[in-house]
Amino acid sequence: MTRSMDLFRLDGHLALVTGGAGFYGTPISRALAEAGAKVIIASRSRERCEERAAELREAGLSCAAEQFDMGDPNSIRALYARISDTHGVPDILVNNALLRSPTHYDEATPEQWAAALQANVTGIHICTGVFSAGMRARRSGSIINIASIYGVVAPDFRIYEGMDFASPPDYPFHKGGLIAYTRYCASLFAPDGVRVNCLSPGGYYSGQSETFVERYSARVPMGRMACDDDIAGPIVFLASDASRYITGANILVDGGLTIR
Ligand SMILES: NC(=O)c1ccc[n+]([C@@H]2O[C@H](COP(=O)([O-])OP(=O)(O)OC[C@H]3O[C@@H](n4cnc5c(N)ncnc54)[C@H](O)[C@@H]3O)[C@@H](O)[C@H]2O)c1
Repeated sequence: MTRSMDLFRLDGHLALVTGGAGFYGTPISRALAEAGAKVIIASRSRERCEERAAELREAGLSCAAEQFDMGDPNSIRALYARISDTHGVPDILVNNALLRSPTHYDEATPEQWAAALQANVTGIHICTGVFSAGMRARRSGSIINIASIYGVVAPDFRIYEGMDFASPPDYPFHKGGLIAYTRYCASLFAPDGVRVNCLSPGGYYSGQSETFVERYSARVPMGRMACDDDIAGPIVFLASDASRYITGANILVDGGLTIR
């Protein structure tokens, strides 16, 4: 039997984190790299990804940067071709990127709505399709989809009163759908040794106003917003052999917000 803590190691593994330079993407990339993986950070901005990758390399970790557009199927296919030619087929794919849309119910134009669904639904499907094909051929891999509490419960709009942001109306379509899509892919890919799971985080503290933080935290049984360390353990768990018999799961990383 393998020693339990060794199951969490990712040495020799290659991970791709889409949107890896953002609020959640940054601690996700760091956690995977600290567990031993070589991490590729990819988003629309090569410059931001390079900055994050350089920070991780300065910390002695293995990291590279790539540019791509989730809204463009050809760009996703080209990303896969570049990564597989240069580094090999990733062992871990984290579908984390999010194209943000206007946050108030009646603000998004049909074009903005379509662009959000193109990147956040079709883009995730294409990305999962091209990367899983390589994983399935090799008969191993772990795909982790980053959904949200708002794929499970509705926002309490009272906490957004007077704020210049809220949760956008397209969000429940792609986050709720992503949780169901995770189960679909988990069932389809399981015979080929590829696991697919979901993490549904709660609100991340990113400098919101004191009023918002108080209102949000009052709804959380654990009494606070999420921070970097909260996502680190769950992502390494799902990426590694520590969760080797788990597929199709949706783990809520929300301080208990959705339990009552
Ligand atoms: N921040 C939160 O409170 C929170 C809560 C629950 C779930 N989440 C989820 O966590 C994930 C990351 O969110 P975040 O808050 O870190 O967001 P963020 O805006 O900080 O990062 C999103 C990343 O996606 C990239 N991106 C956007 N459009 C893209 C495109 N077309 N092609 C390629 N990359 C693109 C951006 O460049 C950025 O790096 C999302 O899936 C989000 O739904 C976030």
